[in-house]
Amino acid sequence: MKRLVVLSGSGVSAESGLQTFRDNNGLWGEYRVEDVASTEGWRRNPELMINFYNGMRRKLKDTLPNEAHKIIASLEKDFDVTVITQNIDDLHERAGSSRVIHLHGELTKARSVFNEERTYDIGYGDIKMGEKAPDGGQLRPFVVWFGESVPKLSEAAAEVENADIFLIIGTSLVVYPAAGLVTLTRGNCKIFLVDPADINISLPNLTHIKDKATSGMKKFTEAVENLK
Ligand code: OAD
Repeated sequence: MKRLVVLSGSGVSAESGLQTFRDNNGLWGEYRVEDVASTEGWRRNPELMINFYNGMRRKLKDTLPNEAHKIIASLEKDFDVTVITQNIDDLHERAGSSRVIHLHGELTKARSVFNEERTYDIGYGDIKMGEKAPDGGQLRPFVVWFGESVPKLSEAAAEVENADIFLIIGTSLVVYPAAGLVTLTRGNCKIFLVDPADINISLPNLTHIKDKATSGMKKFTEAVENLK
């Protein structure tokens, strides 16, 4: 089976009703990144950050995967698929994708402030201020904030290096190191981009399906029909 690697961003979950970050009505128009997604913000006001992610987690509970997540999952019947996602939602898994690498963490997990690797499943429940992990550290969201390293990067990079087809979907490609992964593809790798906006990327072997995730994924499946 050919190896298909998907790099997804918040745009893949937009039609499920989750906000993207930098579009009009995006999260970073409502909140300051420094306050809710940085190590600096955590030092200044951990309670605000805990509450912010508690809110996201509660919303996620009532959110469903959309047709794009489902098509990505269904591609496993024809391809060896790995999803690398910048998203902290669990919609790829709930749509049925079996191999998902979360570059920026997972909302449904918590971790201790003392240990970035050991995680605790919390489902869609809240984290409380004062709630401790077994190592005595305050529990915090298992989310990679600006100023922190990306522990899953090398695992993701290894997948991209072996990809026959690389699909980028729903990301503005402005946040590194995720945005740099495409540079690791082999010369003969076919690259597709599904996004309604113009994205600042130019590669000779890239096809831009300029469409929303749900309708764009239908076109993508047709485009890879003869690449199986
Ligand atoms: P952005 O908000 O930067 O980009 C969202 C992308 O989704 C844009 O390119 C939109 O054109 C596209 N989009 C919008 N609606 C869409 C739809 N219906 N179908 C397909 N695409 C659509 O979000 P990300 O690129 O995901 O990190 O942001 C990357 C990272 O920045 C996030 O993981 C988050 C954020 O800060 C952290 O917080 C660590």
